[in-house]
Parts: sequence; C-alpha cells; structure tokens
Amino acid sequence: MSSIRPYRPSDMDDVIDICVRTGDSGADATGKFSRSTLLPDVYALPYIRHDPSLAWVVDDGERAIGYLVATADTREFARWFADAWWPEVVGRYRPSTSERPGERGLIESASNSARMLVSDVDAYPAHLHIDLLPVTQGQGLGRRLIDTLITELTVRGVAGLHLTAGASNVGAIAFYERVGFHELERDGGSVTFGKRL
Ligand SMILES: CC(C)(COP(=O)(O)OP(=O)(O)OC[C@H]1O[C@@H](n2cnc3c(N)ncnc32)[C@H](O)[C@@H]1OP(=O)(O)O)[C@@H](O)C(=O)NCCC(=O)NCCS
Repeated sequence: MSSIRPYRPSDMDDVIDICVRTGDSGADATGKFSRSTLLPDVYALPYIRHDPSLAWVVDDGERAIGYLVATADTREFARWFADAWWPEVVGRYRPSTSERPGERGLIESASNSARMLVSDVDAYPAHLHIDLLPVTQGQGLGRRLIDTLITELTVRGVAGLHLTAGASNVGAIAFYERVGFHELERDGGSVTFGKRL
C-alpha cells in the first residue's frame, strides 16, 4: 500500500529517476538530454535544497514512486535559484556542446530565473512540481499530495499557489482543473494555473 511521507535525503536517486521518466510533458524523457540530471537540476532538486519541508514522496514500501516539491515564495526562490543554485550546477551543462532538441532551450530558460515570475505571482506566491510514475497514477495520490501541500501552505499563511504545465500535457491539465486550479495565463507552449488559499 503506497503512502505519502516527507522527503528524506535517501530519496534523491528515486526523485531523479521519477523526474526523468515523467519529464517529457508527462511521458518518459529518458535519453532526451545529454545528461540525465538536467531536468532534475531545474525542476526538482533545487526545491528540495531550498525548502526540504515542502517536499513529499509517495512510498510504495520499497522506494519513492512519486513526489511533490514546492516553494512558498516564488520571488525569493527565483533570486536564490539565480544567485546560488544555478551557478553551482550550470557547469555540467554547456549549451554550446549540446545538439539535442530542446536541451539548449531548457538551459537558456533555467539561466533566466525571471521565467518563474508569472504575472500574478504576488497573488499566487507559491508554486509546485508534481510527478508520479505511471504505476501510481490515477489512484488519488496526486490529489492527496496537493492537499498535503495546501495544508502546509495554509498553516504558513501563504495567499495562493500556482504551477505551469506544458500545453500538450492534457492529462496534467485535466488533473489541475479537477483539484481546484483555474487557468491564469497561457502562451504557445505552456499554461499557468492558480489556486487562492
Ligand atoms: C498529473 C498527475 C500528477 C496526476 O496525479 P494522479 O495521482 O494520477 O491523479 P489523481 O488520481 O489524484 O486524480 C485526481 C483527479 O484528477 C483527475 N485526473 C487525473 N489524471 C487525469 C487525466 N490524465 N485525465 C483526466 N482526469 C485526470 C482524476 O480523474 C481525479 O478526478 P476526481 O478526483 O474528481 O475523480 C500524475 O498523473 C502524473 O504525475 N503524471 C505524469 C507527470 C506529469 O505530467 N506531471 C505534471 C507536470 S506539469
């Protein structure tokens, strides 16, 4: 029986694995980038480093098979990402040597932390990333992870929460609408959803 529990440092390899295996708009991104740590270094590990108390995993008794990571304050997180996190890891990723589709764009996007400042960021200051391996999807665990985060953010007095999904990730978009988010903005490739707390 799978359960939700706080993240532990020993979960890191599982989180990296989950991030890669769900990182292509919900599908498997294995082999998409020249280094498998690129997606986790942008979308999972910095959140855990920055505020490990906003990271939870789904544990099937043997390993983590899903996770949710978040920040309560996107403006502060974006500053820390630009000043501390990305300079620490960017040396692993050289856009000039990258020839894989999408890799250069992801590195350039990560280098521009202003990308996190959606237009309603002050009304929805927290943001999250959630990924579950296919084996654990559709069992209500995504909803429970979101509820776990919302309970904690509410205790902290955070006013709102947002996330951005790939516009082609129709499953995730349906999920966010079902768990109470509404669309805030949309550009060609992505949709941002928000929920006031
Ligand atoms: C998107 C994701 C987090 C949803 O988690 P989940 O555990 O599968 O979702 P739940 O079982 O908790 O579903 C909650 C509600 O959303 C709905 N839902 C979930 N996935 C859905 C889908 N693909 N299509 C339509 N509705 C969906 C469920 O029907 C349920 O509705 P209900 O409670 O009103 O009956 C999970 O499927 C996932 O990790 N996918 C791959 C990675 C990904 O795309 N992450 C998001 C990147 S932005």
